[in-house]
Amino acid sequence: MCPPRYFAVEYAINPWMDPGKPVDTDRALAQWTELRDTYRRLGHTVDEVPPEPGLPDMVFAANSGTVIDGRVLGARFRAPQRAAEAEHFRRWFVEHGYRDVTMPRQINEAEGDFAWTGRLLLAGTGFRTDPAAHAEAQETLGVPVVSLRLTDPRYYHLDTALFVLSEATEAAPARVAYYPEAFSRGSRRVLERLFPDAVLATAADAACFGLNAVSDGRNVVLPVEATGLAGRLAALGYEPVFVDISELRKAGGGPKCCTLELRK
Ligand code: ARG
Repeated sequence: MCPPRYFAVEYAINPWMDPGKPVDTDRALAQWTELRDTYRRLGHTVDEVPPEPGLPDMVFAANSGTVIDGRVLGARFRAPQRAAEAEHFRRWFVEHGYRDVTMPRQINEAEGDFAWTGRLLLAGTGFRTDPAAHAEAQETLGVPVVSLRLTDPRYYHLDTALFVLSEATEAAPARVAYYPEAFSRGSRRVLERLFPDAVLATAADAACFGLNAVSDGRNVVLPVEATGLAGRLAALGYEPVFVDISELRKAGGGPKCCTLELRK
């Protein structure tokens, strides 16, 4: 995670961002701190990457790397305003003992568009990550990739429309939650085939960034407004854990965007 010390909305690269509207950086930092402390309270380790002045979106760490089995595929941003973030994260990985770090040739916004199910890497395209980056991720990380097409500009990253509730194990397949309307017809059919018992989110669940959630297979950290989705997850035995991310949402981000997962 990367603290939003220099957080601001200075440009608009998604429909949520309005540089004309005020943003309270201290409030963003307080909400982020609460998110970090929530993970620690749940027993997870959190490392911090130092923020850089002039990179107001650097708080969205999920966009800067995909780590599976200790292999790292770095990021290449679509927007020039975010391009420099990728190198800061690359350096962090190298300095923290990750020996297999590859920087991509294709545009790839990392976990913004890549979701690991434990077996497959679900890969979004349509707004940010280039389809050619899906093949590059498959080669670099050595995992099977399934391409999914996003069609609603409000849900410009896969992680705004889908998250993995439980990774696949020997005993059980992965379970995901997603908002079908964010995907093309073909991609919806792919999701139905792969995940027949997915949790289907409503327009209201998606609009408050309810799908930008982080699950450890039991606890699901999600925005406080996502009460409908939380109720359905609780009925399935998950433990919803609410956080207020209202300030970060002004940049089009939520809990998952702030969280790059280190898979060993
Ligand atoms: N303002 C950022 C952008 O548009 C928000 C990124 C949110 N991150 C995410 N994983 N969806 O690039």
